[in-house]
Amino acid sequence: MIGVTGALGDSDQVAVRDLTYEDLEWVAQRERDIFGLSAWSIGLIREDFTHGFSRWRGIEVDGLLSGYAVYGFEGDAFHLMNLAIVPEAQRQGLGKVLMEDFLAEATRVQAPDAWLEVAVTNRSALALYRTYGFEDVRIRARYYQPEGVDALVMRKRLR
Ligand SMILES: CC(C)(COP(=O)(O)OP(=O)(O)OC[C@H]1O[C@@H](n2cnc3c(N)ncnc32)[C@H](O)[C@@H]1OP(=O)(O)O)[C@@H](O)C(=O)NCCC(=O)NCCS
Repeated sequence: MIGVTGALGDSDQVAVRDLTYEDLEWVAQRERDIFGLSAWSIGLIREDFTHGFSRWRGIEVDGLLSGYAVYGFEGDAFHLMNLAIVPEAQRQGLGKVLMEDFLAEATRVQAPDAWLEVAVTNRSALALYRTYGFEDVRIRARYYQPEGVDALVMRKRLR
């Protein structure tokens, strides 16, 4: 399946929905395209989808999946575990739509804070999270493997 290409127009229909088991192959393929060696494997994706407690969300443009987000409680912290927009659909506001979906759910479940980790080298994601008021909490050294890149833990207070 392909995502959108080119700029979004006023007539493009953007929708966020729960992913289904049938979408997981697509997610795994796009994980490899986007995250390379750090990509979640199809086995891990299926395991978490089937047995985990996360919410798996997809964003469609005119019916074509163009990105996904995974979020939920990790212990008692409400956490964004993954967020990605396919390269050909980036920088058109879709990341913001999924961030707002995540934050709306965090508010709905009355989480006191929203949490995430981001590679210290990921300038576009850092800019996105700062736009939403996420603040730096601490560094997790060599969190992303096999590259050994540090993660920045960020938090947004919701009340
Ligand atoms: C990070 C990511 C999800 C952003 O999604 P997106 O749809 O491209 O982002 P949006 O168009 O909604 O942009 C929202 C804001 O993010 C920031 N941003 C996004 N891309 C950026 C870039 N290339 N450079 C600088 N800032 C950027 C900007 O603040 C932007 O707001 P603006 O357009 O008003 O300036 C996307 O780049 C992506 O999937 N990257 C690869 C996967 C990834 O790194 N995921 C995050 C893991 S923690």
